[in-house]
Amino acid sequence: MVPLTLAEHGALAKARLPAVIWDFFDGAAGSEWTARANRDAWQQHLLRPRVLVDVSAPDCRTELFGDRLAAPYGVAPMAYHGLAHPDAECATARAAAAAGALLVASIFAGRTLEAIAEAAPDGTRWLQLYWLRDREALAALVRRAEAAGYRALVLTVDAPKVGRRLRDLRNAFALPPGMTAANLAARLTSSAGRAEAGRSGIEEHSRQQFDPTVTWADLAWLRRRTTLPLLLKGVLTAEDARLAVEHGVDGLVVSNHGGRQLDGTPPAPDALAEVVAAVPADLPVLVDGGLRHGADLAKALALGARAALIGRPVLWGLAHGGADGARAVLDLLREELLDTMVLAGRPTLADLDRGALAPRPQDP
Ligand code: FNR
Repeated sequence: MVPLTLAEHGALAKARLPAVIWDFFDGAAGSEWTARANRDAWQQHLLRPRVLVDVSAPDCRTELFGDRLAAPYGVAPMAYHGLAHPDAECATARAAAAAGALLVASIFAGRTLEAIAEAAPDGTRWLQLYWLRDREALAALVRRAEAAGYRALVLTVDAPKVGRRLRDLRNAFALPPGMTAANLAARLTSSAGRAEAGRSGIEEHSRQQFDPTVTWADLAWLRRRTTLPLLLKGVLTAEDARLAVEHGVDGLVVSNHGGRQLDGTPPAPDALAEVVAAVPADLPVLVDGGLRHGADLAKALALGARAALIGRPVLWGLAHGGADGARAVLDLLREELLDTMVLAGRPTLADLDRGALAPRPQDP
């Protein structure tokens, strides 16, 4: 079967992956309400098509912090791509570069930053960080990212601890033997990750590594260590968006972590609208969570996002088809975006403004 939708890529991945790995990818925190709401909320925004517009040459190419992308999209930072495919982040890097998409590598990548860079030297790559208890380790990662051509840093701020992901707890999820966090000195190995029923190896390792004391005042420390653009990922409120601007960040990623952290947060498009309204118009705001079609991407842009990041669907493509599968997912999203732009009579990204959307219908 040639997958014609992202959902079909998901079905192929599910058929192929061990159930505990599928659960780690697909699962979310608590009742998984926010994860479901993300997917539903994009669909509840309606498109307002314009007619009799010349749509013969739709164009979704863009620039982000000076780098060209084939579409305003990228791969969201996700830990351990090796769970999906042996070529791991190197395959994803090749896929993203071939598709003209941004790759945001996770601090929990299974391959070194340098290896990921070498796999696709021409690709646009950013590095995602968590604030580690070991600040010297954090500073060292920043230096390595700069040296290896990473173009921005994304500090994820919604994870003072890992959310309660019930599927992982029930499965006693642990990394398979040989898989490690290749960029961290205190590596998570299979033995460190071993867990008993009711516990998750990922959760325990994160508790050791993440610094839950970090506050806005600490951002200056990181800022001083790099000239790269610094974005915060996981901001969901106008209050925090304004604080981020006051603290000099270069961009935001509106994200509820695909529902994997605090269950019960607003779905991604709702939070996006709140954040965009609170920050200066020229501050790049990205979004992720539940985008499963190019039309969702068009809606994110219409709500004011400069780009959107795609999480689980990229792992689906990787799981069933390696680099080619991940690329197919990204290419499909771009084609669906272009299709939406043509049929909505909005052939340029500038045409995707609030007028492209009908207000979200109120819940009964
Ligand atoms: C994630 N996410 C994540 N975020 C982050 O900042 N650092 C990380 O290491 C990870 N790891 C991770 C692993 C897996 C398996 C998933 C599914 C997600 C969250 C990710 O960046 C993003 O916010 C969501 O995945 C976006 O939602 P969708 O597109 O997956 O619905």
